[in-house]
Amino acid sequence: MRGQEAGDWEDLYAIRTSTPGALPYIRPDWVREELAEPKRGAWPLVAVAHLADGPRVVARANLQLGSGRREHCATLVLEQHPDFADTAGRKLLCETVAVAEKWWNKRRLEVTLPAADPAAAALFGSLGFVEEARLCENVRVAGELVDEVILARLSGDAAASRSTEPSGHPQSSPRSKPDVRIRGGSSDDWEAYHAIWSQPDVCWGTMQIPYPSADWNRERVRERTPPRFWPLVAEVDGRVVGNAGMSRDEHHRSHVGHAGMMVHSDYWGMGVGSALMAAVIDLAEKWIGLTRIQLEVYTDNSRAIRLYEKHGFKSEGVCRAFSFRDGQYVDALMMARLCRVR
Ligand SMILES: CC(C)(COP(=O)(O)OP(=O)(O)OC[C@H]1O[C@@H](n2cnc3c(N)ncnc32)[C@H](O)[C@@H]1OP(=O)(O)O)[C@@H](O)C(=O)NCCC(=O)NCCS
Repeated sequence: MRGQEAGDWEDLYAIRTSTPGALPYIRPDWVREELAEPKRGAWPLVAVAHLADGPRVVARANLQLGSGRREHCATLVLEQHPDFADTAGRKLLCETVAVAEKWWNKRRLEVTLPAADPAAAALFGSLGFVEEARLCENVRVAGELVDEVILARLSGDAAASRSTEPSGHPQSSPRSKPDVRIRGGSSDDWEAYHAIWSQPDVCWGTMQIPYPSADWNRERVRERTPPRFWPLVAEVDGRVVGNAGMSRDEHHRSHVGHAGMMVHSDYWGMGVGSALMAAVIDLAEKWIGLTRIQLEVYTDNSRAIRLYEKHGFKSEGVCRAFSFRDGQYVDALMMARLCRVR
């Protein structure tokens, strides 16, 4: 077992091209570039087998370390050569879990697996990973849209945290509905984004962190551009009072979009959130051709859950200790809306 090196790319390419159900015809130079420049926050380990013709990487486990409100989390991807899966894969997984928990102090480890892979589920299950959510039609495999499952293992204070009950926070009485204009967001809107992202009630319901830097938010707005990210803003009387965004996955998950939204609390209950969600769905399903829109919402955010249900989103499960909020871990409901292409 050792840390991954750039020169491991040929062995990793061999693993990826021999794994049943993996995206076919991948280019060797993609793998070479990926290993030459690992993603920020990635901590990959490999298992090396000493064979008659020399050492060979036969399994790789990548930890993607969480940050911000998900600093306590790490996402795990295990790739193993089918000929060595029983031995090297399990050893490498045990070591990766130990590194994540004992050295990186991660408290929630999560993995996404094909729903129809009982061997992988059993391997992770033997290390205390528990199935939390089933993501319907999340990946395309040989022409079929198939389900995936999220499994997670909690430790330390995250394991001891209590499930988040609906609190109904914060409430508002029904209000009159103004005209809402939805348009594409641009970098010129950054001050309105900054004002909304800085609101305590918005931090409560999202992944924003209080007291954000204006410079940092200006940069974030500038980076949100199509075709990977579609920014939308809602205007009432010419003022930007809400925003939504949709990012699109790649390759065999390019039919999947991830949505998020927030409204200035002075304008809650006036139909702004609904108008933004209707626009996200219109764009995703009728123009970009996505068939699955997904989002995460804290289990106690009953206002947002009601809004999503009204727009056809269904629950797919609960991820425990998904994020950290005001001194406590908070659970998130995974929700998705599926669209059948006519
Ligand atoms: C969640 C949020 C986007 C909703 O925006 P909004 O503009 O208030 O939503 P709307 O006025 O369009 O209301 C939409 C639906 O929410 C539900 N809703 C509104 N107020 C509610 C309340 N007090 N309690 C429960 N549900 C409520 C209703 O079903 C409503 O539809 P209806 O008026 O047709 O019955 C907004 O509250 C917000 O920005 N919250 C903070 C950030 C956040 O939590 N974002 C979601 C992250 S997943």
